[in-house]
Parts: sequence; structure tokens; C-alpha cells
Amino acid sequence: MATIGIIGGGNLGANTAFFLAERNVADVILYDTQEGRPQGKALDITEASPIRAYLSKVSGTNSMEEIFNTDLVIVAAGSVRKPGMQRDDLFGENSGVINELAAALKTYKGVVIIATEPVDSMTTLFVRTSGLPSTRVMGIGGCLDSARLRYLIGRELSMSTESISAVVIGRHASDMIPLPAYCRVSGIPVKSLMTAGKLAALIDELKESGDLIVDLAQRSSAYYGPSAVASDLAEAVVRDTRRIMAVSQMMDGQYGIKGVALSLPSVIGRNGIERTLTPVLEDGQKRILTDSAKAIRSAVE
Ligand code: 2OP
Repeated sequence: MATIGIIGGGNLGANTAFFLAERNVADVILYDTQEGRPQGKALDITEASPIRAYLSKVSGTNSMEEIFNTDLVIVAAGSVRKPGMQRDDLFGENSGVINELAAALKTYKGVVIIATEPVDSMTTLFVRTSGLPSTRVMGIGGCLDSARLRYLIGRELSMSTESISAVVIGRHASDMIPLPAYCRVSGIPVKSLMTAGKLAALIDELKESGDLIVDLAQRSSAYYGPSAVASDLAEAVVRDTRRIMAVSQMMDGQYGIKGVALSLPSVIGRNGIERTLTPVLEDGQKRILTDSAKAIRSAVE
């Protein structure tokens, strides 16, 4: 079985470990600097295994070296938002954590999934500081927004989300770019199943989803959705499924943008981002993407 390292033993890291174990994706090593925290969470997850019937071994450690030889690392470290905060308000605090981890993982041989917010800036910083090939580093942005949009469309139409596909690209912030033309229900364009006004209202709701969860939960930001996405991406890598998911990645000239990370639909496999797809965008959508890239660049430079 492959081994996955998770950096950060908080809600996001621990729940990602749990989701990975539930699907027997890999053995998991949960790392955190706080003594006892990852060991305690790992023991709790392990003691659920007789009932949930998983075979993955989950262990906890305070020694970073233990994750150096894993096949994949998920970065779930850093602070999370409190009510009223924007994701970008975490930049100052979390950029230090990401730079430190990127320096420690300069020679890492596996794939890295970034789940720390603001995820596009953190993915950009991680690639720049670590010097790892950008195809081996991806952030969870667009696939979380796409999952949320699938849910909202399914709720509106009273249809199973299983048959619904949705594509959201760009920055994981209020300037995210949902692509209605690429949202389908069993191949049928969503646009033909609801009014333009209703779809626009769902998109507004999508953009507020993360904020609403922080406001409601008060003491935590979303972590079930983010950990579902992080574990899904990890599974795609470890099992080489080549699923197509929108991940934050260093742009390499797509839509004229280079050197900052934004989400685009990509084939995810053993080597990380195996191929990037470039949906056809309207002029307004290209403008938003360019402005998001500028915002990230000015934050990281
Ligand atoms: C969200 O809930 C955590 O930013 C993340 O959208």
C-alpha cells in the first residue's frame, strides 16, 4: 500500500486521514508539531477501524523526517479563518508556514497537495520556494468549488449529484469563475434546465459558501468539503485514476498567464498534473482570470 503524509493535525488534516482510511487509499502518517495531537487523532481513527472496516494504517508523529519518504504529502497546516475574515487575511500568517515546509521538502520525490488558505497564493509560494516541478504540486481550489456547485445544482433540480458535472476555475475566492456552459446533468446543459436568473442565484450562493460555513460554525472554517476533495485528489494520484479535476496549479502561459497558481481542469494521475485542459472562455471570464493572477502576484511578490 502507498503511504501518504499529512502535515497538520487539525480538523482538516485529521479528517483527510479519516477519509483516506475509509477508502483504503493508503497508509497515513499524520504530522503535527504539537506533541500528542497527531498521535491522539491517529489512535482515534484507528480505533474506529473494526467498525468502519478499513485496512489503512494511520499513525501520528512529531517528526517531520517520517513524511520525507512517503508517496504523497497533503499540506493542511496553518491558521483558518474566523468569522468576518477573508481568505487573503490568512496570507501573512500562513505564508511563513508554507515557505518553511517548502524549504524542508525541496528534495521530496512525491506529489504535494496544498490545502492551506489562501490556496492559490500558497500553491504559488510552495512551488517558488521548493523548486519542485510544478506538475507535482497542486492546490485544492477549483475542485472544492466545483463540488459545491454540483451540490447546489442537484438541490435546485432535486436530482442526484452523481449525474451532475460542474466546472469552476480561477481563484478560490469570490472572483472564482464558474463555467455554466460546462455544467451538465447527464450530458444535458444545466442552462436548459433552469432559468438564467436561478443559475445566477446559485452561482452567487456558491461564491459565499465558504464564508457562510465560517459564519455559521463560528469556531472553524469548512473542513469536510476540503478534506473530501484533498482525499479524492490523493486517491487519483495514488491509484493513477486520471480523473479530471480543477486544481490550482502554476500557470504556464494558458490564457497569457504565467508564474502564479490558478485552478484549471486537469488530468490527475501518478505523476500529479498529467495534462491541463483549457476550456473556451468568454472575454469577461478571461479578464477576471487575468485580474486574479495580478492579485496573487502582488500578494506573493
Ligand atoms: C472554503 O470553505 C476553506 O476556504 C475554504 O471555501
